[in-house]
Amino acid sequence: MEALNERIDALEKELASMDSAPEGGVESFRISYLGKKGHLRGLYDGMREVPNESKREIGQRINAIKQQVESLIASWSTSEKPSSGKHAQLDMSRPGLPVGMGARHPISMVRDEIVSIFSRIGFSVSEGPEIEDDWHNFSALNFPPEHPARDMQDTFFVDGDHALRTHTSSVQVRVMENERPPIRTISPGRVFRNEAISARSHCIFHQIEGLYIDKGVSFADLKQTLLYFAREFFGPESDIRLRPSYFPFTEPSAEVDVYWGLETEADYRITKGTGWLEVMGCGMVDPAVLSNSNIDPDQYSGFAFGMGVERIAMLRYQVPDIRLFFENDLRFLEQFRGAGS
Ligand code: PHE
Repeated sequence: MEALNERIDALEKELASMDSAPEGGVESFRISYLGKKGHLRGLYDGMREVPNESKREIGQRINAIKQQVESLIASWSTSEKPSSGKHAQLDMSRPGLPVGMGARHPISMVRDEIVSIFSRIGFSVSEGPEIEDDWHNFSALNFPPEHPARDMQDTFFVDGDHALRTHTSSVQVRVMENERPPIRTISPGRVFRNEAISARSHCIFHQIEGLYIDKGVSFADLKQTLLYFAREFFGPESDIRLRPSYFPFTEPSAEVDVYWGLETEADYRITKGTGWLEVMGCGMVDPAVLSNSNIDPDQYSGFAFGMGVERIAMLRYQVPDIRLFFENDLRFLEQFRGAGS
């Protein structure tokens, strides 16, 4: 009974002297008083020894201690966590969320690398509108009205005279109209074709087209320029070959293959067993295209080429499905963190 009185005195004194939350934290304070083996349990157990006539008085003192402990805990908790307003749930002591490092999109990385390869040999970058008129996308490039060659590129029409550009050759027409030779320019940009979306083709993709016009530009210049590009991009051992092809705006025209190799099973699959990969179209600018932009084809000649950035990025990073470039799935994009330049 005496011992119990002394313990109650000591706890009352301790509680009276507490003017701020205990250093060990509110939770351990709560456990030390209210927990299974806490002070209050001990006091209530001690009640058994208390003679009946004192039970009421001692019981009240113990209850008072309990109430005081509970209200202290409540007051410390509210000052730690304001219960209303915008910061109600703000815990300033929590560590911050990590800010993830961003990654560049693989299409941007490949585009920039190609642009930089051509800029090292004097090509400037030109850009133009994505909604293009018939003249710049087709007619100036030697696609006469109703000509079947227009079907080579399925077109999204905007109105009778406008469409989403099907290639960035349209930008090169604008450059030829506004600048005089020598012209050395590449046109990177988004292009649109009304095609079924599959693992291999998409209705939106990116192109980089190049144009060089000067006096005496020959097919040999074209070949050497493309070889330079292939070796810079695919490696110094790279080789190219040209196969005859057709484009309305170039004559002669060719498809360019890059030698990929035939060492692994994947090489067989990717190159369909030939070792060669088609990477772009090219040719000597048709004299009619030069005339359309008021460049005298008797004085000047030029070459042009155009490639799809997605296709080249798929080769570089072994991406099996073109749709991955447009879905912005972080599980895909995060794999390019730290890749490229
Ligand atoms: N404009 C062509 C296409 O989009 C590519 C190309 C460009 C071909 C220049 C030859 C010369 O398919």
